[in-house]
Amino acid sequence: MSSIFVFDAYGTLFDVHAAIARHRHEAGPDADRLSDIWRTKQLEYTWTLTLSGHYTDFWTLTARALDFALARVPSVPAALKPRLLDAYFKLDAFPDARAALRGLKAGGHMTGILSNGSPDMLTGAVNNAGLGSDLDAVLSVDVLKMFKPRPEVYRLVTDHYRCAPGDVTFVSSNRWDVMAAVSVGFTGLWVNRSKMPDEYLDFPPKQVLNDLNGLVR
Ligand code: LAC
Repeated sequence: MSSIFVFDAYGTLFDVHAAIARHRHEAGPDADRLSDIWRTKQLEYTWTLTLSGHYTDFWTLTARALDFALARVPSVPAALKPRLLDAYFKLDAFPDARAALRGLKAGGHMTGILSNGSPDMLTGAVNNAGLGSDLDAVLSVDVLKMFKPRPEVYRLVTDHYRCAPGDVTFVSSNRWDVMAAVSVGFTGLWVNRSKMPDEYLDFPPKQVLNDLNGLVR
């Protein structure tokens, strides 16, 4: 296995549904629907802006996606917006994230993040989860002003580590993110926590994991 392990952030190390989980009681019965629309729109904005040659940072897009979701699901009180955004800024890591990162480092591997997240929100999430000392690098697309899955984004990793694509193992819960990483020559590992059907069959992961525990052997 390659020696540099790079992780997607949102959905892979950090639980994007943790923000709504903290306010589930006040959000009411449509909480999960709101959270799904929030995430879907957040990603859609990254793709549509990048395809049309534009860029707005991920934090701003996260707020705009929440505005859309709250308008679409009016049963969730719009007054929750500042608290949901605050929770998203300090998003919880998945319970298996720390042990996976530590296990890899103990095995002599390098660890890093490659994310759409803007630098401030990545710092907020990493610090809140206390993962800073378990990561060698936190790389944001913000320097390029374009989002995943542009190949230039994945080349941030090989530029940073001054390595070949074959030296990188890329770990993501987003199958489309694994597709793009594999297409630039990384080894892809897909974390399929929610048991989604496979897709992008031309760009297969080397392995499908149920969670991050499967990383450390
Ligand atoms: C990220 C998004 C894709 O962290 O979740 O890059």
